[in-house]
Amino acid sequence: MHSLVIGATGRTGQEFVKQALAAGQRVTALVRSPEKVTITDAGLTVLQGNGRNAATVNQAVAAGPYDAILILVGGGLVRSTVNQVITQHVIAAMKKNKSTARLWILSAAGTGNSVDQVSFFAKALKATVLRAPFGDHERQETDVRSSGLPYTIVRPVGLTEDPVSGGKYIAKEEGKVPKNTIPRADVAHYMVHHLTDPGLEAKAVTMSST
Ligand SMILES: NC(=O)c1ccc[n+]([C@@H]2O[C@H](COP(=O)([O-])OP(=O)(O)OC[C@H]3O[C@@H](n4cnc5c(N)ncnc54)[C@H](OP(=O)(O)O)[C@@H]3O)[C@@H](O)[C@H]2O)c1
Repeated sequence: MHSLVIGATGRTGQEFVKQALAAGQRVTALVRSPEKVTITDAGLTVLQGNGRNAATVNQAVAAGPYDAILILVGGGLVRSTVNQVITQHVIAAMKKNKSTARLWILSAAGTGNSVDQVSFFAKALKATVLRAPFGDHERQETDVRSSGLPYTIVRPVGLTEDPVSGGKYIAKEEGKVPKNTIPRADVAHYMVHHLTDPGLEAKAVTMSST
């Protein structure tokens, strides 16, 4: 199993890289600052570059083939565009390079039809302070769904830095989720162990702790 990760220096990204390597998988990480990558492992390749640069993303995708390509990036709370811009570059690069990898994106619970799965409090956050990142995720999800590429969308509730729970989490397409938080480590665990799961093809799952 070989994944390309954009956002590998982030909190979810680092967990994904660590757990994927521990599971014997290969990871190629496209990062802006290679000095931030603290893991050394024979299965890890680090490429330097900015995900907002289309040519850089194309080079990283062309360095495949990959089984999965994961966009695990985050940006600011104001005028956020990072998810959509990088997603558009990845989609274009996957088409250009005829990649058959599964495209995974880290969206957020409350995006699209998952608004029915979250609490009143989460809906209020979406409508106010988190309006910009949610708008970015809405546009990102629309681009992924219309890309014609194989994809899985992960929509976690509030992310924490707690360790892996040992499977005490849920990922579901419909229905309220039980909690308002989930460890980033559990989100990474789910992705590492379902990277090419055919049951998740073209699905969007909302994740929370149980
Ligand atoms: N916080 C929550 O409770 C919550 C809940 C649900 C969903 N989410 C979503 O989760 C995502 C954030 O996840 P996180 O907290 O694990 O991330 P994070 O720790 O904030 O890290 C963000 C990552 O994105 C990378 N990045 C940003 N711009 C980039 C660019 N132009 N090119 C390449 N890499 C770039 C950063 O790289 P550098 O190290 O170079 O900066 C870093 O690796 C967001 O999309 C957010 O909306 C968050």
